[in-house]
Amino acid sequence: MILWIVLLMSHCCFSLNRAAAESTTLERIKKCATRCSQGLQCKPKANGLFPRPCQKPAEVLNASSVFHNISFSTVMSCQGRQKCSLHLRIKTLLQLSESIHGVSICTATIGMMNSCRTFVFAKASRQKMAGLQVEVENDCTDISPNQQVQVTVKTVPNYCDVTWTGTYDAPGCFSGDLRRHVPECITGRLSYDADTERREMIVNVSDMLEDSNYYVRLCRKDFICIGTEAIKLINKEEPVKSAVLPYSRPLPCLCIEGWSAVADAPRVQVCPFKDRLEELWSGVTFDPLEQTLSWEPACPVTAVVTLCHKGEDGVCVALPHASRNVSRDKMTFAKVDPHPQLCIKFTVGSQSWTSCPFAQLSFKAWELVVSGKQGHEAVKMLAHTDATFSVGQCVNSAESGSCHIAETHSLHVERNKAVALNLTLCKACLQVKRVDVNYAVPVTHCFDQCNQSVPNEKLSTIPHLFDLTWLIVAAAACISGVIIVTLVLHIVLTVHQRRRQKRRGNKKGPTANTVASALQTQTHLHEGILIPDSPQCGNAEKAVLISK
Ligand SMILES: *[C@@H]1O[C@H](CO)[C@@H](O)[C@H](O)[C@H]1NC(C)=O
Ligand SMILES: *[C@@H]1O[C@H](CO)[C@@H](O)[C@H](O)[C@H]1NC(C)=O
Ligand SMILES: *[C@@H]1O[C@H](CO)[C@@H](O)[C@H](O)[C@H]1NC(C)=O
Ligand SMILES: *[C@@H]1O[C@H](CO)[C@@H](O)[C@H](O)[C@H]1NC(C)=O
Ligand SMILES: *[C@@H]1O[C@H](CO)[C@@H](O)[C@H](O)[C@H]1NC(C)=O
Ligand SMILES: *[C@@H]1O[C@H](CO)[C@@H](O)[C@H](O)[C@H]1NC(C)=O
Repeated sequence: MILWIVLLMSHCCFSLNRAAAESTTLERIKKCATRCSQGLQCKPKANGLFPRPCQKPAEVLNASSVFHNISFSTVMSCQGRQKCSLHLRIKTLLQLSESIHGVSICTATIGMMNSCRTFVFAKASRQKMAGLQVEVENDCTDISPNQQVQVTVKTVPNYCDVTWTGTYDAPGCFSGDLRRHVPECITGRLSYDADTERREMIVNVSDMLEDSNYYVRLCRKDFICIGTEAIKLINKEEPVKSAVLPYSRPLPCLCIEGWSAVADAPRVQVCPFKDRLEELWSGVTFDPLEQTLSWEPACPVTAVVTLCHKGEDGVCVALPHASRNVSRDKMTFAKVDPHPQLCIKFTVGSQSWTSCPFAQLSFKAWELVVSGKQGHEAVKMLAHTDATFSVGQCVNSAESGSCHIAETHSLHVERNKAVALNLTLCKACLQVKRVDVNYAVPVTHCFDQCNQSVPNEKLSTIPHLFDLTWLIVAAAACISGVIIVTLVLHIVLTVHQRRRQKRRGNKKGPTANTVASALQTQTHLHEGILIPDSPQCGNAEKAVLISK
């Protein structure tokens, strides 16, 4: 059993660059208060119902000459371990003058009414301190985590143009201090064991809201997390806060979500398989009638999907105009030739994966069939659907390993009707490609079975018809090969036919549509009898079979 043990910190929005915030602790206050500079007596004053229009000051006053520095911070007051609330502390440094009797501070948040506080200075103290820089500090404004607050500071009386405005962003729930003590931030912490064999997630919960039950579920993360399974309740009375969640596929967007059983509880998400992108590349489907290849990502993913041609060397070369950007929608390639060498490459960032959906498929849209009568081999094209091909003969393919096409011709093949290619065996490579579809791989077939009978030094120069040594060796080899194979086949087929006759009475033996792929090194017969290719003129036995 493969048991993964992963212990994760579990707030959804936590990341490394917030590690600093994790360790900071907010200042605690017992009770909110207003503080003014020593010697300056200040007291709150009720606000008038309507704001007064501004006045022209007797002396020259402007915002920058009056308000020297206005700064903000967040403090916390607590009524219990998990019952802390946040307060905005506003500190105003102002230049006191004869005509300034106090300050008014208004705060506004989205969706909330403006709230104003006014502080007036006692006449004696303000006259005494006129001309000095004084400080007024208040921390009675309640704020929520992540809230944005707009602050406006004015003088009393309200002098025109002596107004300061600014905004403040309250801290989010990133810090451990808030996550432990502020109810809006208490999500609980999830840790899990993923039992990949039993496809179960064993989830433990800690640091949850006291005195409330807790829920966990699995969900698939998109814009929101969409539930896939039933929600499990962890009772607050249970000594071990744990639940088992079964899952079907280890998808990268599969997340464990947990939250306290209270209204608007913040949720925590952990996605155990978030790096398992390769899980997404399955589920490619092919419709043989429409010849469409489609794939739908099981999770939203930003990937480039490219059809490619996988060569012998394992390198998958992109087909022209066969690249798609995918995020969450199903993508389709219309008119695709289903060939084992036609593959799909999925690229995410600098990583890529290749999958060959037709590699395991017994169904092939077309085949090169090597056949013959009385030792005269011939190459035929057989397609299981009407198809058009371009066929070219390679030049110099032995030396360079690549296929340079001198000329091609077009070949139309009707469904299940073999068409002869009129090309000589033991001589060349063919490149065949379907041209009646949008996406097809060029397939190279080399008919070099005779190659092995030629001394090694001859290999670099392709034997040509007038090479007598080659002809003699090849002919001798072919004849002996044919004799051996015919003998073997005779025995095999006799046994085979007898078995068949025994089983099914008058059923016929292998028929003309017993085809063998030229690509295969072994010929697959009916009912799994395997006959290795004869070393020379390897296609002779196929020819025999087909002519029977
Ligand atoms: C504000 O007033 C001071 C003098 O009281 C002056 O130096 C400064 O330029 C004024 N600033 C603006 C923005 O008008
Ligand atoms: C304003 O006051 C705050 C806190 O007292 C201080 O950190 C900041 O540097 C001051 N800013 C200026 C421009 O003096
Ligand atoms: C979950 O809790 C159980 C019981 O306390 C413990 O044995 C197990 O190791 C925990 N698993 C994780 C992943 O924390
Ligand atoms: C995919 O997206 C990238 C960046 O947005 C763009 O440069 C590229 O052309 C797109 N490719 C296709 C095949 O649409
Ligand atoms: C002939 O066979 C040898 C190995 O026996 C191989 O290296 C060579 O590529 C073959 N020649 C052709 C034309 O395929
Ligand atoms: C092959 O040769 C036969 C007779 O010579 C001809 O009828 C047929 O069209 C040829 N096939 C191809 C594909 O060239």
